[in-house]
Amino acid sequence: MERGKFLVVEGLDGAGTTTQTAFLVAALRRRGLTAHATCEPSKGPVGVLIRQVLSGRLGLGGGKALSPQTMALLFAADREDHLEAEIKPALAQGHWVVSDRYMLSSLAYQHVSLSMNWIATLNEHALVPDGTVFLRIEPELAASRMGMRPQVELYEALETQRKVAENYERAIAIRRQVGEHIICVEGSLPKEQLSRHIEEVFLGYLGL
Ligand code: TMP
Repeated sequence: MERGKFLVVEGLDGAGTTTQTAFLVAALRRRGLTAHATCEPSKGPVGVLIRQVLSGRLGLGGGKALSPQTMALLFAADREDHLEAEIKPALAQGHWVVSDRYMLSSLAYQHVSLSMNWIATLNEHALVPDGTVFLRIEPELAASRMGMRPQVELYEALETQRKVAENYERAIAIRRQVGEHIICVEGSLPKEQLSRHIEEVFLGYLGL
């Protein structure tokens, strides 16, 4: 049986990765393919733990968050588990898999406080996607879509989104150098228009 293809949708918070992942899966199914949507953090045990950390339910105690290093290790462990438990078995059955976030998220987000080399090392055994679509939006739009209200929080959110946006651009350039196929699209387009554009250029590239 022919192996399925592994596709990824990436972008800042508020870029619409979850919506576009669902649209992409629907577009693949319309072409008669068996397609499966997934996400990172995954629904596996490490992914569930990460979501508890992100929501503030789990930490060091006394309201202290886990260190950036611990988070980078958890994201890498979740990815490995996600690949073994869900992605690789689905691909082997001939299914196409579309993941809402993957390794580029680690390179962009964890690099806000850690070296890109170390994050890349943690992820060096991760399966390389057959194609990634990056939804590019302005950090200001990302921060405003997240609906942060108090001024200080908005500023912090915006500063972080700016750094993450820069990191994405750097990570995309590095991954392209090692042969990864990544297309960048204008993520601020209305969602239906954006999905049609992705279908045209991304699925076009994949010969669909
Ligand atoms: P989500 O909001 O798209 O579900 O993702 C949860 C958050 O986790 C989002 O802010 C991006 C972040 N994240 C990382 O920092 N590193 C990673 O490797 C992944 C997959 C997500």
